[in-house]
Amino acid sequence: MTKTTSTYNLKNPSILYEGATQFELGSFNGKEITYDFPKILTYLDVKGKLLFGKNFKIYEDDQELLLKLASYFIQDHEYCKKLDIDTNKGILLSGPVGCGKTTLMRLLPHLVPHKKSYTLIPCRNIVFGFNGIGFKMIEDYSDHHTYCFDDLGVEHIGRHYGKDCNVMGEILISRYEVFKQKNILTHITTNLNAEELQEKYGERVRSRMRESFNLVSFTSNSADKRK
Ligand SMILES: Nc1ncnc2c1ncn2[C@@H]1O[C@H](COP(=O)(O)OP(=O)(O)OP(=O)(O)O)[C@@H](O)[C@H]1O
Ligand SMILES: [Mg+2]
Repeated sequence: MTKTTSTYNLKNPSILYEGATQFELGSFNGKEITYDFPKILTYLDVKGKLLFGKNFKIYEDDQELLLKLASYFIQDHEYCKKLDIDTNKGILLSGPVGCGKTTLMRLLPHLVPHKKSYTLIPCRNIVFGFNGIGFKMIEDYSDHHTYCFDDLGVEHIGRHYGKDCNVMGEILISRYEVFKQKNILTHITTNLNAEELQEKYGERVRSRMRESFNLVSFTSNSADKRK
């Protein structure tokens, strides 16, 4: 991973600096920023290359999805409304293996360096943690921090001292409570569709997810970028 000095203009957070290069993502009237989507794409292309290597590029097929996600991250409430995205809910990013879900959830927070980002953690790691620590692990995720649970659905059932637990199911129910009480968000990436999620976590979890997430999907024929 390449390291650069990233920073932003405190008076106008739509001006970002990567090393000595300046990127102006929009205009600022002293109160709010009007972002410019082509400029956002240019920046994401550059930042993606810096973070993930020279092979990173913006695929034409992904541009519509990127527009949606970028609008959400910059909190363009009006445009999100048009896209049927609720800026007060989290993102459930679904799509086939290798289409770039984790990459995007790592990249997009860089658009808004002035905002507090989230911790991205693979669901598998959470379950490994549960197997060692037990139920306290589930409690720990009811805190007021924002998380992106990466690759929901691939993790195994947790097992602590012979007791089985659907760890992510329990955590998602706790996260729903935090969402309802404090409007603290959770994001997710997954390969599963809504039916598969219901099968794995049950109707209670699915119903709560419906209320607290925006479903944003890559198309099912999105290319595996690992190939
Ligand atoms: N826009 C892109 N340009 C070039 N390479 C990319 C791009 N997006 C992702 N990749 C590469 O493709 C591979 C898969 O990306 P990533 O892990 O983000 O996919 P994923 O959808 O999270 O996959 P999985 O479903 O297996 O978790 C990685 O090696 C990543 O660096
Ligand atoms: Mg992934």
